[in-house]
Amino acid sequence: MTAVGVEAVGIGKRFGAFAALSGIDMRVRPGTVHGLLGENGAGKSTLVKCLMGYYRADEGSFLVDGREAAISRPADADALGLGMVYQHFTLVPSMTVAENLVIARGQVPAVINWARERAALDEFMGRMPFPVPLDATVGTLSAGERQKTEILKQLYLQRRLLVLDEPTSVLTPQEAEEMLAVMQGLAHGGTATVVIITHKLPDVMRFTDEVTVLRRGRLAGRGATAGLSRSDLTSMMIGEPHAPARPERRGGAEAAIRLAVRRLRTTGGVGQHGLDIASLDVRAHEIVGVAGVSGNGQKELLEVLGGQRPFEGAVTVGGIPYAATRRQSQALHVRVIPEEPLRNGCVPGMSVVDNLNLRLFDQNDGGGSRRWLDAGGMRRRAARMIAGYGIRAASIDAPISVLSGGNVQRCVLARELDGDVALLIVANPCFGLDVKAVAEVRARLMAARNAGCAILLISEDLDEILELADRVVVMRSGRIVHETPAAGADPHAIGAHMLDAHAATPAPALA
Ligand SMILES: Nc1ncnc2c1ncn2[C@@H]1O[C@H](COP(=O)(O)OP(=O)(O)OP(=O)(O)O)[C@@H](O)[C@H]1O
Ligand SMILES: [Mg+2]
Repeated sequence: MTAVGVEAVGIGKRFGAFAALSGIDMRVRPGTVHGLLGENGAGKSTLVKCLMGYYRADEGSFLVDGREAAISRPADADALGLGMVYQHFTLVPSMTVAENLVIARGQVPAVINWARERAALDEFMGRMPFPVPLDATVGTLSAGERQKTEILKQLYLQRRLLVLDEPTSVLTPQEAEEMLAVMQGLAHGGTATVVIITHKLPDVMRFTDEVTVLRRGRLAGRGATAGLSRSDLTSMMIGEPHAPARPERRGGAEAAIRLAVRRLRTTGGVGQHGLDIASLDVRAHEIVGVAGVSGNGQKELLEVLGGQRPFEGAVTVGGIPYAATRRQSQALHVRVIPEEPLRNGCVPGMSVVDNLNLRLFDQNDGGGSRRWLDAGGMRRRAARMIAGYGIRAASIDAPISVLSGGNVQRCVLARELDGDVALLIVANPCFGLDVKAVAEVRARLMAARNAGCAILLISEDLDEILELADRVVVMRSGRIVHETPAAGADPHAIGAHMLDAHAATPAPALA
């Protein structure tokens, strides 16, 4: 067995006066899958970054295979065979899979003997549980294939422990399951121990052997997964039992069309195809869910509606041709919540207060324009959003980029759902959020809809779409290939449209 065991003993980490971790003990047995759980901001990423040498713990120590390990730089973790797969991608998009794997080794000779490398790679691939096309350029791979390549890269580097920080958020449900099953196989086969950070409790129940739960920087619980229920895990994470109610849907149906898209075409983007949408409407009091495998035009549609991509055809909001300028989106009360909020929805170096006020800093509370910044008003507004959305930040004057991933997401939602919204366009609003925050955000979206807002919900999470949407459209290769009312919709049928798997779906047997 090459898999190693790792133990954290009394780990403490401060950022200034803020204690991100105190007295954390975690024991990861060799050859197991270990879940590291906790609310947004609990300290999960910080703990594994200490283990990987990205941060230096202020207190405590790490043991690897029972021996104390001095980890003060990433190279130390590397030498011990500890590797991490990040949520963002680290591959070079313009190089092939093979080239990426070879250069990842670091100590590459000046002249690479490709024939020899290639033979070694083929031999390596032959031993791997899933294939990745070695000669494909990384930029052309789907998100799922890239994620698999990231994992293969770590295995090619002969890691003996692998940490995956929210590894499935960019994958479709099928890909996520397949990937987790592979990780479980690696761990149980003794190749590499696996630590998974995730907010998805069904994945925890199904694929982990043991869990460690953090709450606000402290150890809140641990144990064998088989002895724990989902509600045990939730109580450990948030300190109280939590059974979210399904948000209640009220009113709707025959309301006026708010967003109308007609004969929309773009060039490029989705492979070579671009967008080609004949017609898409969203009415007031309605949530239209756009289902699809990522990379099928969702990003391009968001860019068109956010004014960042030229297009042919017509987009109107309340009957008015819509060009998505700042002034027009303010006048028509249109909000767009993009994916990857830290990159696309925030100014990372600016403070939490300033980011929460980005949309409104030039307006007073009555909506009129103002010529100077009202610092007191901005702080009050930020404080209200922070309380209302349970945002955890050590200080509201800190740059937003030091917040945990989930707390950045909450800030963007708080800002964009604040005030009067007529049309909301939102992509994957719950990526990276903990269970409680997911329930809160879904309830807020439903409340906005009930109050008359039109919502276009682009999501890769089909369960989310089926819970929230009134109507579901499926996007594939830049087109809308299927439409159905959400009530009573069959997830498998929708999944088949997402994958164009009709030919592969066996005809239902006659009863
Ligand atoms: N470099 C930093 N400077 C200041 N504070 C930080 C820094 N990195 C993390 N923190 C703070 O430490 C706390 C823990 O953050 P961490 O990223 O570990 O949370 P997490 O459990 O991974 O949450 P999430 O599920 O949202 O990703 C947060 O309150 C965060 O704001
Ligand atoms: Mg994190």
